[in-house]
Amino acid sequence: MEKREQLYEGKAKKVFKTDDPNLLIVSYKDDATAFNGEKKGTIEAKGVVNNRVSNHMMSLLEQEGIKTHYVKTLNDRETLVRSVKIIPLEVIMRNIAAGSLSKRLGLAEGTKLNSPVLEFCYKNDALGDPMINNYHIKAMNLATQEELEVIEKMAFAINAFMINHFKTVGIELIDFKIEFGRTSDGEVILADEISPDTCRFWDSKTNEKLDKDRFRRDLGNVEQAYQEVLKRLLGEH
Ligand code: TMP
Repeated sequence: MEKREQLYEGKAKKVFKTDDPNLLIVSYKDDATAFNGEKKGTIEAKGVVNNRVSNHMMSLLEQEGIKTHYVKTLNDRETLVRSVKIIPLEVIMRNIAAGSLSKRLGLAEGTKLNSPVLEFCYKNDALGDPMINNYHIKAMNLATQEELEVIEKMAFAINAFMINHFKTVGIELIDFKIEFGRTSDGEVILADEISPDTCRFWDSKTNEKLDKDRFRRDLGNVEQAYQEVLKRLLGEH
C-alpha cells in the first residue's frame, strides 16, 4: 500500500490518497479545537490515543455486524480506511443530559434521559453545524429516506453496544457524535472516528470527565484523561 498525496486536512485529521482508489489513509493530529474552531490548542499524544481508541471500537463494532470504514491500523497515528463520501450530518446520540442539550432544555448535566435521544446537525462550519431534523435532511437532499432509516438503526445499535462495552471498563457513555459515509457502491457505513474527542465519557464511580470537555472547559489533566481512556480499553500499551 503506497501513501500518495494529501486529499484533505481537517481540524483533527489529515486524509491521504493511496494507490488504491477505494482506500485512504487517515492521520490523526494532536491539534484540538472547540467552539467551531474559536478555541485552539494541542493535546499531547491525542492523535495516538484517538487512532487506537477509534480503531479498537470500530473493530468491536464490525464483530457486532456494523459496517465501518476501518480496514487496518498502519502505525500509531495512521489507519487505512475505505474511501467514502461523507454524508454531511453529525449524528449525535445522548443517554444522559450534558453539553448543548442541557443548555437548550434546561436539564442539569447528569440527568438521566428516559430513552436515548438522537439528534442531527448539518455539518457546515460556516453555519456553525446547526441542528436539523429528518425533514430538513430530505428537503435538502442530504440523505434519502432509506439512508436515514439505515443511519438511525445503526446509531441506536452502536449506542447500545458502546454503553455496555464502556460500562465494563468503568466508564459511563454520556453522549457521542458519529458520521457516516457512502461507499462507491452506495452502501452507508460508519466513518470518521469514535474517540474522547467525539464522545463524553464519565468515570462510573467518580463522574470525573475523561474526554474533550476537559479541554473545552479548561479543567486540566487533559492528556491524562485521554491516556486513561486508552488504558481502560486496551490495557498498558
Ligand atoms: P454537544 O452537547 O456540544 O452538542 O455535543 C454532543 C456530543 O457531540 C459530545 O459527545 C461531543 C460531540 N461533539 C463532536 O464530536 N463535535 C462537535 O463539533 C461538537 C459540538 C460535539
